[in-house]
Amino acid sequence: MKVRIKVIVNGEEHHLDVKPNRTLVDVLREELSLTGTKKGCGSGQCGSCTVLMDGRPVISCLILAPQADGREIVTIEGLADQEPQPLQKAFAEKGAIQCGYCTPGMILTAKALLDVNPKPREEEIRSAIAGNLCRCTGYSKIVEAIKSCAVSEFE
Ligand code: FES
Ligand code: FES
Repeated sequence: MKVRIKVIVNGEEHHLDVKPNRTLVDVLREELSLTGTKKGCGSGQCGSCTVLMDGRPVISCLILAPQADGREIVTIEGLADQEPQPLQKAFAEKGAIQCGYCTPGMILTAKALLDVNPKPREEEIRSAIAGNLCRCTGYSKIVEAIKSCAVSEFE
């Protein structure tokens, strides 16, 4: 049995027939070919599948497709139109990316933080990204990149 859902992904409306137990990350990657959203653990542990749902970061491997019905989703592909978004540039410039697997989720989490708290303190940045695991960078450069954006983008 399938259910019909309507989702707005990166500003585009999609009507999809999906199995009710299908997760949002699978719908994004497999139905909509938005493979920028990474699937790591598949069980809510790593944060690599983070996307924005109605402006808030969510773990898309824990969201069932019917729960996304009528919602607005932003993936890493939707963050920048043509040009990289300041956070994307900052991550590249500060060396906050190594294998890159955590990066889309990390950047979307950072975006959600900066949207509500344009000048976060370091502890607030660290706390915001606590659910996004990175096994390469040691986090310092990620925090630095987010901090640099907070200053340059909003001052
Ligand atoms: S893949 Fe979703 S939290 Fe790891
Ligand atoms: S850059 Fe490899 S997991 Fe973060």
